[in-house]
Amino acid sequence: MDSKEIINKTIDFVKEKLKGDSSGHDWWHIYRVWNMSKKLHEKEGGNLFIVEMAALLHDVADWKFYENEEEGINVIKDWLDQFDLLESNQQKIIFIIRNISYKGAGVKDKMEYLEGKIVQDADRLDAIGAIGIARTFAFGGKFGNPIYDPEIEIKMHNSFEEYKNSKGTTINHFYEKLLLLKERMNTKSAMQIAEERHLYMENFLKQFYDEWESIK
Ligand code: ADP
Ligand code: NI
Repeated sequence: MDSKEIINKTIDFVKEKLKGDSSGHDWWHIYRVWNMSKKLHEKEGGNLFIVEMAALLHDVADWKFYENEEEGINVIKDWLDQFDLLESNQQKIIFIIRNISYKGAGVKDKMEYLEGKIVQDADRLDAIGAIGIARTFAFGGKFGNPIYDPEIEIKMHNSFEEYKNSKGTTINHFYEKLLLLKERMNTKSAMQIAEERHLYMENFLKQFYDEWESIK
């Protein structure tokens, strides 16, 4: 099977897996990350097949949807096993998916490979800007978090466990993650795109607090 066919089959698989998601991790999130990854790849280089496959599969194994990470990773391994991929390519795709997630303000990223850096940046670009704002409130609603509560403090999580189990507000999530992403982009191309999206979120927050206090 050639790469085009593998990619087309993978698109159908991912569409089926993420069907009905209302937490901001639906097919259209994958579609945007896939497109942005291809755009970043044009400027940054790397192996396009690995970039595309990792982008398409990156949320299939997400910790938020499986009891444990291994269960999700096995679903991806089983999927990839049917194709005759180079062992090293398959391992890279799995490594990227395992390490793509943000794990807390105080937890360092450990992404390797140019392909991984590209897909992680594309995923993070979809977490900021106008779309990032929309996804964050969708996620907060789905997981039962309040929009905002001035009495609930912002927490800079120092471990994945802490981050994962935290029950903050959606506005706090901007400080605990979204506003930190600009500085954590791996590639120059993504950093440039992040600038404008970051400013957009800052303006949104300013307007939000002004309305909250009946100033505007
Ligand atoms: P990553 O791709 O780094 O693993 P996630 O899948 O955890 O990111 O999150 C993707 C998006 O889901 C976030 O950018 C945000 O919009 C939303 N999200 C995740 N956790 C929260 C939260 N605690 N509150 C609000 N939104 C969240
Ligand atoms: Ni994602």
